[in-house]
Amino acid sequence: MLVEEPSYLAALQCFALAGARVVPVACDEDGIVPEALDATAAAERPVALYLIPNFQNPTGRTLPAARRVAVAEIAARRGLWLIEDDPYGALRFEGDAEGPIAALGPAADRTLALSTLSKIAAPGLRIGWVRTPAALRRGLVVAKQAADLHSSTIDQAAAAAWLADVDLGARIAGLCEVYRERRDALLGGLAGALPPGSTWNRPAGGMFVWARLPQGHDAQELLARAIEQRVAFVPGAPFFAGTPDSRALRLSFTTHPPQEIRSGLERLRASW
Ligand SMILES: Cc1ncc(COP(=O)(O)O)c(C=O)c1O
Repeated sequence: MLVEEPSYLAALQCFALAGARVVPVACDEDGIVPEALDATAAAERPVALYLIPNFQNPTGRTLPAARRVAVAEIAARRGLWLIEDDPYGALRFEGDAEGPIAALGPAADRTLALSTLSKIAAPGLRIGWVRTPAALRRGLVVAKQAADLHSSTIDQAAAAAWLADVDLGARIAGLCEVYRERRDALLGGLAGALPPGSTWNRPAGGMFVWARLPQGHDAQELLARAIEQRVAFVPGAPFFAGTPDSRALRLSFTTHPPQEIRSGLERLRASW
């Protein structure tokens, strides 16, 4: 299984439990690097590539249109299945959305497109969905039955009732407005909150900012001191399938209102 480097921790755990050999593919600030994907696919002969093209977890990165086309073309040429996981695409605060890889010609019959109600309704519902090529559908149904028989009927009924009533467009627009303010509060205060020389990105949506501490710093050590100040972030190292970057960290901006974010940033500053 090829994965972006870094990638979503629970997916890495899931692939490991299934006994997959997980191989990372080099990424830059725009996500997966097509040349690296092509070379790694040629060398490793993987079955599939798992990727999160919109506001990735943990990096917040979004794959540009030209790279989506390149990924679809490489997948077709190298005979790869694509697993396109998109929980965050709806949470775009600015700019235009990129289309899904699954909608591109060469990828259409080889992409499993996943999403979920977790980021737009409630994660506790545990309801998501997959759009899959016909050739895989029956096998997936059997695997789902083997895993848990079926998703809770009661929770599905609750979700259906919610979806029947909600103005989903307005709901998502409301989330985006609130999350944009929170992202801006985080970005506005980060320069004073992380050690001088730290770097970070500015995602146009999603839930996460990805940062890197300067040389000589370690995110795990900083977390221990941050917790003493009653503030937390997620160290980046566990998201790496290959060599971990001990200076990387993920900052989530969605849970707390701007004032609490500012207070948390002051405490983060106090921790170093
Ligand atoms: C990339 C990615 N996929 C899936 C999920 C989880 O989705 P669900 O709550 O539907 O399991 C998350 C949530 O953290 C995620 O970041």
